[in-house]
Amino acid sequence: MFADVPQDEPWIGAEPGFEGEIHAFNLFAYLSRSDVTWNPSVCSVVKDSLLCPTTEEHTLPITHGNDRVEWFIQVSDEIIWAIEDKVTGRPLARVVMKAGDVAAMPADIRHRGYSPKRSMLIVWENNDHQVARLHQEGKIPPYPVEF
Ligand SMILES: [Fe+2]
Repeated sequence: MFADVPQDEPWIGAEPGFEGEIHAFNLFAYLSRSDVTWNPSVCSVVKDSLLCPTTEEHTLPITHGNDRVEWFIQVSDEIIWAIEDKVTGRPLARVVMKAGDVAAMPADIRHRGYSPKRSMLIVWENNDHQVARLHQEGKIPPYPVEF
């Protein structure tokens, strides 16, 4: 649990006439009260962009095979990821994400996370219905950016 997360809500100072259109909430407070792990707790949807904050603890109960790139933003604490080739299961990397770290998990891997204590993670992915097929057919690279 997150016993040390303040539960206060943000102050909203809307201009007259906009009182019913401005909303805010304390995401950290909301996540700190989440009673599930390894499952998106909140999901904002803007066109094909899915932003899914979650809380994690102990071991992800499955090894997740990606069909698209997943961006991870480690919001608090730490998650240790075992990354494998999606097809063969050959170990590829071990990634230790600490608060503030950002990683892009490629579309051609499978991975399993271990969170030594309860942590907060934001998962961001492209929900376009063609993305998985385009990856399978090799028409787009399995990684999101070239440096
Ligand atoms: Fe995944």
